[in-house]
Amino acid sequence: MDRTLVIIKPDAVERGLAGEIVARLERKGLRLEAAQVRTIDASTAALHYAEHVGRPYYEPLVEFITRGPSLILVVSGVPEVWGVVRSLMGVTNPLEAAPGTIRGDFGLITRENLVHGSDSAASAQREIGIFFPELA
Ligand code: PPS
Repeated sequence: MDRTLVIIKPDAVERGLAGEIVARLERKGLRLEAAQVRTIDASTAALHYAEHVGRPYYEPLVEFITRGPSLILVVSGVPEVWGVVRSLMGVTNPLEAAPGTIRGDFGLITRENLVHGSDSAASAQREIGIFFPELA
């Protein structure tokens, strides 16, 4: 079965929006396969965001994702489930994300955009291996 990684980021946990975001995933029909509250450390963040090293947003992104607890999920439910999660999330910049999406409904600034979802089946497999090696 296809699975994908979702990170409910520190801003969403701080704001008490984790339950709302999980509910949206579940109401869509997706299934939780794994869940863990954890403060992502710098070395894990560097692994996870390796493809973004050198981009202007890289340092702020790592600083943000490590600042407090995230809720990290593996979800499943349909083939290409990563794409379903991405459409529920909305685009990267919350100001451009459509109303009805997580980022469109709850966000204002790009860095604090509430949620991460793997961007392909290959990324999902790689990212699940980082956070839940027992499922890889
Ligand atoms: S995506 O979702 O992968 O298409 O997003 P992308 O636009 O390629 O951005 C990659 C990740 O970098 C984050 N990002 C930023 N963080 C902080 N500040 C700025 N300005 C910024 N721009 C982009 C973006 O949220 C993506 O993080 P994740 O966790 O993958 O969503």
